[in-house]
Amino acid sequence: MNILLTGGLGYIGSHTAVELLNAGHDVLVIDNLCNSSIDVKDRIEEITDKQIQFIETDIRIKEDIDNVFANNKIDAVIHFAGLKAVGESVQNPLYYYENNIAGTINLLQVMQKYNVKNLVFSSSATVYGTCQEMPLSEDSPTGAVNPYGRTKLFIEEMLKDLYTSDPSFNIIILRYFNPVGAHDSGIIGENPRGIPNNLMPYIARVSVGILDELSIYGDDYDTKDGTGVRDYIHVVDLACGHVASIDKLSENCGLAIYNLGTGTGYSVLEVVNEFNKVCGGKVKYKIAPRRDGDIAEYYASPKKANDELHWQAKKDLHSMCESTYNYQIKELNKNK
Ligand code: NAD
Ligand code: UD1
Repeated sequence: MNILLTGGLGYIGSHTAVELLNAGHDVLVIDNLCNSSIDVKDRIEEITDKQIQFIETDIRIKEDIDNVFANNKIDAVIHFAGLKAVGESVQNPLYYYENNIAGTINLLQVMQKYNVKNLVFSSSATVYGTCQEMPLSEDSPTGAVNPYGRTKLFIEEMLKDLYTSDPSFNIIILRYFNPVGAHDSGIIGENPRGIPNNLMPYIARVSVGILDELSIYGDDYDTKDGTGVRDYIHVVDLACGHVASIDKLSENCGLAIYNLGTGTGYSVLEVVNEFNKVCGGKVKYKIAPRRDGDIAEYYASPKKANDELHWQAKKDLHSMCESTYNYQIKELNKNK
């Protein structure tokens, strides 16, 4: 199939592009490069030995998106493009609503105009808000707690309304748990600008001496060792979940929602200890106060995705840490 990836040079999009090319699909990427770099295109092509088409554009500019659809044959869209930093979304909510929601409305209007009605959308476990019942299934109550989360929840609602009004759409909403890790090649991965907010990129920078030590936000939660528990999923497994979703779209699946997680929760200390096995104990840490807005524990039930997408996460915590470290070392050496 000819697949358009919005935001396809970003962290998850780039890994998905690789897996789609490996599965024999053709890939067209649009990205405004606000959180990625053009070099990623070359790296995707180096890994796969295949070409992708790239157009630098912004989903907020409707005429440009219209041109993309007017000039290319597109069978399905995977919509990654969006902003994702929770703290920034609290500081600048309108920027998030404009980019994520207005951008998505443009895209959907153009898809409808050109009769392209197959869509996979990047949602997040953040839509489960403060739901306490574990594991989280697709039927668990939703309720986002910050502007970023609300953009995901509002888009999910918009997609349901769109499908009700036009059932010729096939729409898969993927709720990602905590994506981590990097491609085995070590040449694509997650490289956040500035000081990372998320655990794994922070640990990676401590492991190579860019940052001094990790602050573990709270060790008094009601969890196995008192630190926060999350369902970390290797980004390559996540990427394979998109290939499975593309297969599902071709069965005319209607609208479906799937959790993409492993179903296993690891604590912050378990992640740090595993990472230290990989890097030789270089991740120093201290216990710090809890971070505002954090919840103790969440993890997925991936059963629906296992059963209906015939997909399962395969990579373990060791592989998540090892690939992250490998990528971080290569990035460090590249910048020397
Ligand atoms: P990323 O920032 O690495 O990738 C997003 C890409 O979209 C970037 O390349 C960016 O330049 C591009 N982009 C942003 N706004 C754009 C616009 N207006 N027009 C065109 N391109 C634009 O993020 P990611 O981690 O790859 O996340 C991909 C998607 O998955 C996002 O929608 C994100 O909200 C969602 N998600 C991510 C996580 C995570 O932890 N990484 C978790 C749950 C959901
Ligand atoms: C965060 C976002 C969530 C987003 C997800 C993407 C918040 C409140 N939530 O989730 O919306 O979808 O990233 O993956 O920002 N931790 C530390 N020290 C650190 C960083 C994190 O101890 O320096 C702990 C956290 O307290 C948490 C765990 O590590 O227990 C994971 O944190 P993080 O990687 O930020 O992910 P989430 O909080 O799950």
